[in-house]
Amino acid sequence: MEKKEVAKTSEAEIAVHWKEEDLYYPSTKFIAQANLTDESVYDRFSLENFPECFKEYADLLDWYKYWDTTLDTSDAPCWKWFVGGKINACYNCVDRHLEKNKNKTAIHWVPELENERIQHLTYQELYVRVNEFAALLQDFAGLKAGDRVTLHLPMVAELPITMLACARLGIIHSEVFGGFSGNSCADRIVDSGSNVLITIDGYYRGGKLLDHKANADIAVEKAEKDGQTVDKVLIWQRYPGKNSSPTPMVDGRDYFVNDLLKDYRGKRIDPVPMPADAPLFLMYTSGTTGKPKGCQHSTGGYLAYVTGTSKYIQDIHPEDVYWCMADIGWITGHSYIVYGPLALCASSVIFEGVPTYPDPGRAWRIAEELDVNIFHTAPTAIRALRKVGPDEPAKYNYHFKHMTTVGEPIEPEVWKWYYNVVGKGEAVIVDTWWQTENGGFLCSTVPGMKAMKPGSAGPGVPGIHPIIYDDDGNVVPAGARKAGNICIQNPWPGQFQTIWGDRDRFVSTYFARYCKNEKSKDWRDWPYLAGDAAMLADDGYYRILGRIDDVINVSGHRLGTKELESASLDVIEVAEAAVVPVADEIRGMVPDLYVSLKPGYDPSPELAAKISQSLCDSIGKIARPRKVWIVPDMPKTRSGKIMRRILAAISNNKDVGDTMTLANPDIVDDIKKISQDMIEELKESKKALMKE
Ligand code: PRX
Repeated sequence: MEKKEVAKTSEAEIAVHWKEEDLYYPSTKFIAQANLTDESVYDRFSLENFPECFKEYADLLDWYKYWDTTLDTSDAPCWKWFVGGKINACYNCVDRHLEKNKNKTAIHWVPELENERIQHLTYQELYVRVNEFAALLQDFAGLKAGDRVTLHLPMVAELPITMLACARLGIIHSEVFGGFSGNSCADRIVDSGSNVLITIDGYYRGGKLLDHKANADIAVEKAEKDGQTVDKVLIWQRYPGKNSSPTPMVDGRDYFVNDLLKDYRGKRIDPVPMPADAPLFLMYTSGTTGKPKGCQHSTGGYLAYVTGTSKYIQDIHPEDVYWCMADIGWITGHSYIVYGPLALCASSVIFEGVPTYPDPGRAWRIAEELDVNIFHTAPTAIRALRKVGPDEPAKYNYHFKHMTTVGEPIEPEVWKWYYNVVGKGEAVIVDTWWQTENGGFLCSTVPGMKAMKPGSAGPGVPGIHPIIYDDDGNVVPAGARKAGNICIQNPWPGQFQTIWGDRDRFVSTYFARYCKNEKSKDWRDWPYLAGDAAMLADDGYYRILGRIDDVINVSGHRLGTKELESASLDVIEVAEAAVVPVADEIRGMVPDLYVSLKPGYDPSPELAAKISQSLCDSIGKIARPRKVWIVPDMPKTRSGKIMRRILAAISNNKDVGDTMTLANPDIVDDIKKISQDMIEELKESKKALMKE
């Protein structure tokens, strides 16, 4: 087995010195209504009762046929859950609620413009729209179970409608975050082998109506060059019946969905009973090499896991109004805006825009108007809301019973503002640690049962058994005050099945590091390496410290440093590039990009801007570097490796440490000098970033 993508984790071994935070306890009012308060859950989900314990989650769903094998390990470590079972995800999220709840709101869609009214889509309306669109996908687009289709949609109700229509037919959807560029979309079209792209003409973001159709043209053209033809582009309209994009339609390729739908009025499509282990969707995420990984999620296992965790960790009851502010283009949105909440018949809020636009009170006005009582967001948004409007929440009459944080470590200070000001001291907080690969939560407190500790995710959720290993494979025990590599000892139903089309990479990235026996079919021999450094306190709470590989967590989302570096190398003048993470007040981490130029080219602010733009064009605005440093040369080891550690120290104003092992130690002072000159300029670019 090749061990190519394993992390090198000197950082994971650091001793950790911060003080333990005080505990906060859920209120009796919360506990009285909580879905889970029975301590025996941890026994029921112990390793002794594994894997059968997960029947409890699967039983939250309706099955056409029950499974024969709960966990099939014959193709280790590609685990298969509920094998032999037949199920449809769309049926579970829509049809089964109609009998009792057809008039209940499934989706509250909040347009960014405040003069446009919120749209409330009932389960019945969702059913009708999903059926009609499924008929179109089947009859017009010619799609069937097992085909892949790429979606490049923003936060509009048509996104879950599209996902559910695909799920109804067993079509594997691959949604690309709306803010990603046409080029990023193209890579995902090619990798997944999609010949249909579903997009929208435009959408609002920060007060601007963006031309999204233009991205489709870029995506299709690039995909074609890279060998994948897209025959049909299906375009939703931000304003039904009206074209909001100036980009011309391509005859015979581009179709407005609303025009086509006229032929499918009243059509009903029976949900296709899918094998539990059939893929439901792909979700791409960054890894240590340039190419994003298509995480392949299953139908039965995934849906069971997100439904169970939505019920017990998100504490969703059917009568709740639940608002997860993440984007559906990320895994959080798939699991905890669409599939989990809808499977539980909750009302899920989808907000088109920026929570601080047009003013810092916007998010809280939405919460007030819809009487949201469960709120879910990321530290980056909490920091931004705190910065622009620390006193805003008190001005609005909303009351949360429950709040979630996800995506990156939350600083205890920020946690306390979230708790006291946003939650008004009334709401429990769950800090949920997990990843695109995992389908659902790995570590979190069970909100009605466990105390909260600011900055710590908590223990493994029921059925998840984490373990921390040091670099030599020894277990780092609780209370050691030492960090290590956090792994999960056992499989779980939400876990991705493989990397689409790249099983070897799946095995080498996530399992090779601590595999006890490569030939084994026993799950006990295959701990899952999450790629995060973590430490375990005496009380069994995990504190996640961050990535141990070459991945930068920007605003709670992973960007591969190699992806960024290779995008900058597309600029003709650039000879070498290195990306390092810089701590940022709002976004957690941001990339700083160092480049050296080919002979004959000179540094200039225009060139720096061009390089920066190249990252936005190939990946999306989220990848915009804080600063592009054009340097005469990179600090290098004698064997020619770029010393990113030194560049990171310079970017973060830290001591660069020993530079004498470098082949070119003098370069460090040259780079530092450049950094002095740039301080003023940096302040300006930071202002620009804040506006985005
Ligand atoms: O480093 C961890 C961090 O985000 C990574 C996963 O990123 P992504 O796949 O984009 O999924 C984000 C949302 C599930 C993890 O490897 N991370 C996620 N949640 C937390 C976190 N770090 C600390 N605390 C968390 N609660």
